[in-house]
Amino acid sequence: MPDSTPSFTLVDVPGAAPLLGHLSAFKKRPLEMLSTWWRQHGDALRFRLGPKTLHLFSHPNLAEDILVQQSDRFVKVYDPRRPVGLALVLGNGLVTSSGEVWKRHRRIIQPIFHRSRMATMADRMAQVGAQRIAGWADRTGQPIDIAAEMMQLTLEVIAQTMFSTSMTQHIDRISHALRVSLKYAFDSFHNPFGLPRWVPTARNREFCEVTQFMDGLIYGLIAERRRTATTHDDLLDLLLQARDVETGEGLTDQELRDEALTIFAAGHETTANALAWTWYLLATHPEVKTRFHEEVDRVLQGRTPTADDLAQLPYTRAVFDESLRLYPPAPAVQRKASTNTTVGGISMPAGTLVLIGTYNLHRHPVFWRNPEEFLPERWLDGQRPSARYAYMPFGAGPRACVGIHFASVEGPLLLALIGCCYDLRLVQESVEPELMVTLRPKGGIRMMLQPREIPVES
Ligand code: HEM
Repeated sequence: MPDSTPSFTLVDVPGAAPLLGHLSAFKKRPLEMLSTWWRQHGDALRFRLGPKTLHLFSHPNLAEDILVQQSDRFVKVYDPRRPVGLALVLGNGLVTSSGEVWKRHRRIIQPIFHRSRMATMADRMAQVGAQRIAGWADRTGQPIDIAAEMMQLTLEVIAQTMFSTSMTQHIDRISHALRVSLKYAFDSFHNPFGLPRWVPTARNREFCEVTQFMDGLIYGLIAERRRTATTHDDLLDLLLQARDVETGEGLTDQELRDEALTIFAAGHETTANALAWTWYLLATHPEVKTRFHEEVDRVLQGRTPTADDLAQLPYTRAVFDESLRLYPPAPAVQRKASTNTTVGGISMPAGTLVLIGTYNLHRHPVFWRNPEEFLPERWLDGQRPSARYAYMPFGAGPRACVGIHFASVEGPLLLALIGCCYDLRLVQESVEPELMVTLRPKGGIRMMLQPREIPVES
């Protein structure tokens, strides 16, 4: 395979312990280690978690080579016969599947996310948002966990837009189930010495319980839709109507469950974390917050936003884009070489595991001016990085996020909707990022809701 990417030198991270490698440090602070090793040892490095060796690449050229140019040679790491990590939770859905199954299912699912559908989706998103924040009126003056609030809000958005149903009554249990299962999935990835799932430890039992709960919910939705046979023109309809062109067969119940749960989880967790980080950044940068409030007041004048308003809210969008840069909800993308190949002059035998360090790319001093600073203006005045893949919160190549348009409408829309009515003030000293598949604010973010005077159009 010709390798057009300039050469890189691969550095082995020092300090590997005989059996564990770098596992102890990584287990304690995964995000910090990925970032510190990169700063100390450069854009192409190698470390070990027990028996697994991983490459960490944090340069746009390497990201492009793996995710775009050689996307057929770098596949997802999951094997449906031996599920680990996210596949334990999501089965063989769009995020975790590969090959023909992935191709076929992406063809089925993609149309629901077409740009032309976004205006209708935006109306639904705004409706859900307005309903939920109506419930905030009697919670002013007391701290709320804005990360948990955003999780519940985006969960209800995904339930109503993709499955035409409300999840309000199950929200706490679903949030708990997803938190437990994502933690379990993440631990299973980086701890190769964990006990198998059938051993009845407290953790395994808890994982089984939350899985059963989520399965019950999703299979219930599918059964209900089959029973009533009404059409809703949503994701569930598309999945139920899909037929194989050759065999004419529909998706099996297991396939339906995996795809529905995948959209359910991938479609709200990421956006919720992005919004939580955005509120944190706004609260800690008063001059940015003032400009953001000024824009939403001027454009909306107290109205609920629609998809059309987004074009008039460039600063709000820039705030969201900049937040995705500093705190990308998916801070690393993982792949495995399916065949022997070379990347940036580094030879990679089949089976080599790679992490593309999105978090590092987004703070790379070669590609960003003042990389550690929160500067939404950079998205407005042409300071975008010269390298295309220095910014990739939604991934890149054929496996890039299917929900990119959805999230790009939802994020700024909900920011504008909430920012119009409330000023969110931080009531804790600091917030620490925690890597648990996605990048979460550890322990949540406590904020106070300060109602704002809504300007009325004269
Ligand atoms: C700010 C919000 C979001 C971020 C940062 C984000 C990020 C990502 C990233 C980085 C990937 C690629 C992972 C990889 O290459 O291994 C991805 C894939 C995916 N995302 Fe998102 N996502 C977001 C919102 C959404 C939404 C709203 C949905 C659905 C409603 C969604 C559904 C998916 C699915 C199904 C995939 C797998 C696509 C495939 O492999 O074909 N995401 N996302």
